[in-house]
Amino acid sequence: MPAPDTRLWAIDTPNTSYVVAVDEHDRLRGLHWGPRLSREQALALLELPESPFRPVVGREPRFDLGAASAFQYGHNGLQVRFADGTRDLELVFTEAIESEGGLEFVFTDRHYPLEVRARYRNHADSDVIERALTLRNNGTEPIEVVRADSATWVVPALDTPRLSQLHGEWGAETQLTRTTIPYGETVIGSRRGVTSHQANPWVAVDDGAATETSGRVWSTALAWSGSWRITVEKGPTGNVVVSAGFGHDPIAIRLGGGETLETPIAAGLHTERGFAGAASAWHEYTLAHVIPHPDEVRPILYNSWEATEFDFTAEDQMRLADRAAAMGCELFVMDDGWFGARVNDRAGLGDWTPNPDRFPDGLGPLIKHVHGLGMRFGIWVEPEMVNPDSDLYRAHPDWVYHQPHRRRSEVRQQLVLNLARQDVAEHIHAQLDELLSDNEIDFVKWDMNRPFTEAGWPGAEDPDRLWFDHTRNLYAILDRLRADHPDLRIESCSSGGGRVDFGILRRTDQVWTSDNTDALDRIAIQEGFAQAYAARVMGAWVTDSPNPLTRRAVPLDFRFHVAMAGVLAVGGDLRIWSDEEQARGAELVADYKRIRPTVQLGRRYPLRAGTVSGVQYAKDDAVVVLAWRAARSFAYPDPLLKLHGLDPDARYRDERTGRVHHGAILASHGLELGLDPADYASAMIELKRLP
Ligand code: DGJ
Repeated sequence: MPAPDTRLWAIDTPNTSYVVAVDEHDRLRGLHWGPRLSREQALALLELPESPFRPVVGREPRFDLGAASAFQYGHNGLQVRFADGTRDLELVFTEAIESEGGLEFVFTDRHYPLEVRARYRNHADSDVIERALTLRNNGTEPIEVVRADSATWVVPALDTPRLSQLHGEWGAETQLTRTTIPYGETVIGSRRGVTSHQANPWVAVDDGAATETSGRVWSTALAWSGSWRITVEKGPTGNVVVSAGFGHDPIAIRLGGGETLETPIAAGLHTERGFAGAASAWHEYTLAHVIPHPDEVRPILYNSWEATEFDFTAEDQMRLADRAAAMGCELFVMDDGWFGARVNDRAGLGDWTPNPDRFPDGLGPLIKHVHGLGMRFGIWVEPEMVNPDSDLYRAHPDWVYHQPHRRRSEVRQQLVLNLARQDVAEHIHAQLDELLSDNEIDFVKWDMNRPFTEAGWPGAEDPDRLWFDHTRNLYAILDRLRADHPDLRIESCSSGGGRVDFGILRRTDQVWTSDNTDALDRIAIQEGFAQAYAARVMGAWVTDSPNPLTRRAVPLDFRFHVAMAGVLAVGGDLRIWSDEEQARGAELVADYKRIRPTVQLGRRYPLRAGTVSGVQYAKDDAVVVLAWRAARSFAYPDPLLKLHGLDPDARYRDERTGRVHHGAILASHGLELGLDPADYASAMIELKRLP
């Protein structure tokens, strides 16, 4: 066996090192995930009590590649079952392949023909490390893969480890909670076939004392849009590992002879800049390495859903488009209800041709009208679904997920198409390709409104594959459409924010954050969303007041200012907005166009002081503050908001009032917002750093 010091590797990023070693039993051990270390410093880890090469091995060895094997009673990120029933792995280290921007460890089982590759990728401009596994069955008999987590991150021992997670439900997505991690295994995930509203595949761990601006934070996010699981395990002495992967109990993947299984990427991040520092590192990673057109700011879209739901004509859409264009919107999106027999949610899904009563001459006249107004044209689709009352279902009732002798449970009168089937995937692609080829469509809102039930595939050799292949085929269709229609931009939606993750973001341009467009609720939803996902992808509509969902009445400026913290859009029924509301809306849209590059491409800092909260975005010389306060208590004056990331020696001019502020004062005392004393006050302040 080579000397221990040659079995140690570091995956370095600008500020961090993740150090692993292969121990004497060929197990990949996580030794360090923290500040960047030199080779000499990393080697010193081998002197510590936890070193895999010290005679007294710690009671809790922590494995970066947790393979089910003797004495491994905790969560094992890699679990298989060989054809003869053997479940334990005995992996032998074969080689480590170092390359520009990457490191790959190769293991093979001592007896069975299974090869396991653990791949890391680092980037010169980010502290995010990407990790994935590749399993290959080099034999002829199938191997059942019970669990193949993309990464098992080993977090250093912490005093009071705390978990931050995003939970929720429809209309209440991405709510941030921080709780002390209990001993044992804490599992979050989705068994719904889609990322889910209930949990988002992102977590962060800290020592219980991190703040927004300081403290060490370890975070991971899984780039996968189907079922998933993140297991956070705290051992007896407080050690924590975080294991993230696709799939859920009790499904397994059958890996046939000669087949390869690629897991999605789990990305890991360590920072010493607190929660906001972690969030902005995720945002910068998103812009640099995840989304397809990172430098492109998103247009202000108008979406017709809340205005019309299913009740509209082509003429109604044109009138909405007129009003949206007059307000300054740049993209008009016609939502649900334009195709097949889809005049309500009981029929038509699956038949992607224009409804002949509503669009007797096809979509052409509406698209021409929208383009004539100087806006781009977008359209809603929900390609993975079918209404039983549709031509598609009548022709192919076997194309949906179903199980023999079980009912086909409907949600919103719809069933899920078996996208794992190649013929179904081909059909969906062909329908969309035709729609996009026949019409000048610039933007697609791709919706997915219900989770899987009775997820079966009668006759398939390995029906469990559907949980994986559905998502893979979804990705393949999106990739193909993008390649063939390079100017097309795509919004991911799943009944609001049910499919927000780094997997879908690799092939879409923005996501729909939540069907809850109430500005007050949105503050919380957006705060959670921003832990991992950048403002550049966060769709945020201004809708009517009172809000259709919550019935809360909120002033127009407040609604706009909250939505301006992301990709501003308008989704109200502009036919009933007063002339004053239209005019003020147009002013606020114009305001947003000025601040948009700073919001969408800048660095985000959360702001809070008493009852006032907000966000600051900074890029180059521009600083934008969006702040809001729902209600004051006891008529107290509003506090100032301390800003972040400013040069203390620089001066910053308020672009509206001309007032000049000192960076040092803004940081230590704060910015006076001048909020209206009434409830639901808000402000947008643009500062420019003076030369
Ligand atoms: C759910 C989406 O989140 C809404 O915005 C809208 O597109 C509806 N589906 C349409 O059915």
